[in-house]
Amino acid sequence: MRIVDLRSDTITKPTPAMRRAMADAEVGDDVFGDDPTVKRLEEMAAARMGKEAALFVASGTMGNLVSLLAQCGRGDEVIVGDQAHSYVYEQGGMAALGGIHPRVLRIQPNGTLDLDEIVAAIRDPHNPHFPKSRLITVENTHNRCGGSPLTVEYMRSIGKLAREHGLLLHLDGARIFNAAIALGVDVKALVADADSLTFCLSKGLAAPVGSVVCGSKPFIAEARRARKVVGGAMRQVGVIAAAGIVALEQMVDRLAEDHANAHVLAAGLAEIPGLQVDEVSVRTNIIYFETTRPDVDAPCLVARLEEAGVRMGVVGRRRIRAVLNYHVTAADVQAAQARMGAALAPDTCEDTVGSSAYED
Ligand SMILES: Cc1ncc(COP(=O)(O)O)c(C=O)c1O
Repeated sequence: MRIVDLRSDTITKPTPAMRRAMADAEVGDDVFGDDPTVKRLEEMAAARMGKEAALFVASGTMGNLVSLLAQCGRGDEVIVGDQAHSYVYEQGGMAALGGIHPRVLRIQPNGTLDLDEIVAAIRDPHNPHFPKSRLITVENTHNRCGGSPLTVEYMRSIGKLAREHGLLLHLDGARIFNAAIALGVDVKALVADADSLTFCLSKGLAAPVGSVVCGSKPFIAEARRARKVVGGAMRQVGVIAAAGIVALEQMVDRLAEDHANAHVLAAGLAEIPGLQVDEVSVRTNIIYFETTRPDVDAPCLVARLEEAGVRMGVVGRRRIRAVLNYHVTAADVQAAQARMGAALAPDTCEDTVGSSAYED
């Protein structure tokens, strides 16, 4: 049976072109600035984003962390959404390692922060009781808000707001190319207002490892220092960066296929009794849906699906996430839908309801 793995787009494996590029990569000691492949990737990434410079890092988490470490001091405050990856899933690294205080605002269903709420959250710089507001961070696409893309207009508005209040804007653009493709805009327009951004090569773009941080030259110099102190300066890392180059050259446009498959799967799931999915909210490659059957909670359904050769992620007691990716074809989507219908058909899951671990 062919497994349909929809747990995440991070499960994607390097393409044959990536493996060839990795084998053939010219390398050097990147801490000495000697690795030509890393340099090429960084130049490509900066040009693609319309920024002065870029820095190759090990992961999206490291990209977000070094971006904040480079721009915020101890006791500075970062305005962040309560569903942001950097707030929920990165061990509170900004606080744990940077002494940076998160000011958490409720995220709106479309992944945006309300601009009035941001203004209200900005601290009076003359009052010594408060931390200093320093930076706003946004996420595009927004993972926990159904992969929703934040528009160019929104990015412009929040950038303007940040500048008017003397704040910096960081963009967690782990899936920024998904946003650009879904919106039909040049990625440069989406990142123009960000002082710093990070995007991932290792998600929908299918590279095995790595993310890139982009911004001004002085910012990247500071981010490079921050990368060193968190142990992220690597040596002959061109062997990995080579796959990132292929990802940028060959894997961006095909993300549209993942989006098309996501629409088809969401429509199919909506037809299955016992599932609730808001098809309209599916804009990129991420689908969230819920089981409404009292006898089948999310851990139970995901366990049944695993047996049927379909992998998905539990994100709440009733909530499940499916992420379309490079290894999932249109035929796989049909198979997944059929297997889900069967998994929800006959008996109950009473013995497993509530017993599995899940994270919300
Ligand atoms: C929006 C977002 N930002 C950052 C990350 C972190 O990336 P990594 O897993 O490479 O640390 C993820 C990972 O899924 C993500 O979804």
